[in-house]
Amino acid sequence: MLSIRNATVKFRAADGTEVHALDSVSFDIPPDSIVVALGASGCGKSTLLNAIAGFQPLTEGTISIDGEAVNGPGGDRGVVFQKDTLLPWSSVLDNVALGLRYRGVPKPERHRQARDLLKLVDLSDFEAKPPYELSGGMRQRVGIARALATDPKILLMDEPFGALDSLTRENMQQLLAAIWARTGKQIFFITHSIEEALTLGTHILVMSPRPGRIVARYEADFVRQFALSGDIGPVLANPRFVSLREEIRSIIHKPATGNERQAA
Ligand SMILES: Nc1ncnc2c1ncn2[C@@H]1O[C@H](COP(=O)(O)OP(=O)(O)O)[C@@H](O)[C@H]1O
Ligand SMILES: [Mg+2]
Repeated sequence: MLSIRNATVKFRAADGTEVHALDSVSFDIPPDSIVVALGASGCGKSTLLNAIAGFQPLTEGTISIDGEAVNGPGGDRGVVFQKDTLLPWSSVLDNVALGLRYRGVPKPERHRQARDLLKLVDLSDFEAKPPYELSGGMRQRVGIARALATDPKILLMDEPFGALDSLTRENMQQLLAAIWARTGKQIFFITHSIEEALTLGTHILVMSPRPGRIVARYEADFVRQFALSGDIGPVLANPRFVSLREEIRSIIHKPATGNERQAA
């Protein structure tokens, strides 16, 4: 299990002022969970993800995985960003196999594993293509396959579907729900979309800016229904989904009181 305790990050801006990007954030990412951090732009979501990834040191607090402190990037965490970071001159197959290559896995074996992952993200027919011949949604699928290639415990995703059109986005959400149901990976997922958070999250952390902190927490299970049926329609129409969506909307649009709200 991944545990974040009192995570605080303060930046020194170029003009010398201090930016309190994260303020004493604590939560766990339990096995078999999709923990979603939801909030408006600037509330510290990426700072939090980068800290978990090991790219961003904390000013105060701790992050640990199964009791071991996180002090930098590691193969136990795979990262997917909004903008893909694929190598343009490498084929889709070699992009997926990249992490395995760094680990010294011989080519036939890393290609075998990469092909399995391309099947998982439904891109088997595209393995020989360069990324620039793929659509945005397909490139994000390659990015997910690449992040999964080193078999990380946890997948960290920073608004991975934020730049996609709404239909592609729905397909990607369904794919992610299916991958989660099949692989049982722990996922930490960032979004500013309330519907996306409720559709995918088993745990939802609502964040507010300046300083970035968690102002409400929810548990949800719409993702299991979604993963089974592959149909988002009934989820979006579920009365409990609608009432939670409106409740979270009111929190995000209301100034924080400082008192954290809890619901299950
Ligand atoms: N390297 C940095 N130096 C100074 N300020 C930063 C830096 N990175 C982020 N910030 C500030 O920290 C706050 C949180 O940023 P970020 O984590 O990117 O938010 P989000 O991902 O929720 O949009 C913002 O006010 C942002 O301007
Ligand atoms: Mg961000």
